[in-house]
Amino acid sequence: MTKYNIALLAGDGTGKEVTDEAVKVLNAVGEKYSIDFDFEPALIGGCAYDVHKTPLPQETLDIAKKSDAVLLGAVGDWKYDTLPPEVRPERALLGIRKELNLFANLRPAIVYPELTQLSPLKEEYVSGTDILIVRELTGDVYFGTPKGIEEKNGEKFGYNNMCYFESEIRRIAHVAFQVAMQRNKKLCSVDKANVLDVSRLWREIVADVSKEYPEVELSNMYVDNAAMQIIRNPKQFDVVLTGNIFGDILSDEASMLSGSLGLLPSASLSDNNLAMYEPIHGSAPDLKGQNVVNPIATILSAAMMLKYSFKMDVQSDEITMAVRKALKDGYRTADIMQNGMQKVGTSQMGDVIKSNILA
Ligand code: IPM
Ligand code: MG
Repeated sequence: MTKYNIALLAGDGTGKEVTDEAVKVLNAVGEKYSIDFDFEPALIGGCAYDVHKTPLPQETLDIAKKSDAVLLGAVGDWKYDTLPPEVRPERALLGIRKELNLFANLRPAIVYPELTQLSPLKEEYVSGTDILIVRELTGDVYFGTPKGIEEKNGEKFGYNNMCYFESEIRRIAHVAFQVAMQRNKKLCSVDKANVLDVSRLWREIVADVSKEYPEVELSNMYVDNAAMQIIRNPKQFDVVLTGNIFGDILSDEASMLSGSLGLLPSASLSDNNLAMYEPIHGSAPDLKGQNVVNPIATILSAAMMLKYSFKMDVQSDEITMAVRKALKDGYRTADIMQNGMQKVGTSQMGDVIKSNILA
């Protein structure tokens, strides 16, 4: 029996509730195809701070590093808001991205036909939207130095550095072109090259990498225009390649096209086979323990794991189809509830998706 070790980092708030459902669904796939998914839990975020006084304990990193893939729930809770920045739960996310070298963040923004009415935009604009944002995740102003807050000219002065090495741009561009090759061979690179030097380099290197992918149609867009175009005409985009901070902002914007943050998965890939999968939503601590949050984003993250880490395209598609069927059959968690539909809780949604897989 093929065996995969998955590091299970449920995190804070409702993180465990959603990862429980993804585990349920992966186990259903395992049962059907005789695959053994072995889950090793580890602490991350506020819950790790409570025990170890750090949101990202070494033990967690060790478990992640020796795993075949990492499944993460979410981190954060208001009760940690008063902690110093270096031990806040969010720091664990930045830390694990850097430690595991997860430089390529794939964030799909898909509008499901069953749910187009949930979109805040008119149906005619959003229906059929299927964007994949490829966000660089370990560089840019997030990690650039120098940075800090100091006294200067008699007042406080805060600064960060937006910077990229050519090699960092090159490797993320390759990932974006490769996924574009597997999709519609259309890639839009987003930058601010009319103002920023780092963006001029970005554009130059992306153009250079594009020579290796002559079949992919490359376009460039300034980030302010891209923010507008995602609302004006989202269907013009297929793969969007961008840096860390622009990708952070644009991916939240694009996620809203689908109507609920509870639907969207993500994958963070490295170049050494290790990858991490997580829903794009947060830990929703106010909803903890109520069995109401939507597990679909995490279940679809598990589908991305099968595709990108384990090369199980068939099984990955099967999870996606099982989710689509649950939606088609009218099952809805509170965040996507519509008139006349069947309202279900977190674990019931997982059960329905599981039974669709085993049917
Ligand atoms: C995200 C989040 C994180 C980021 C925060 C929580 C550090 O917004 O994954 O998009 O800014 O990358
Ligand atoms: Mg974000």
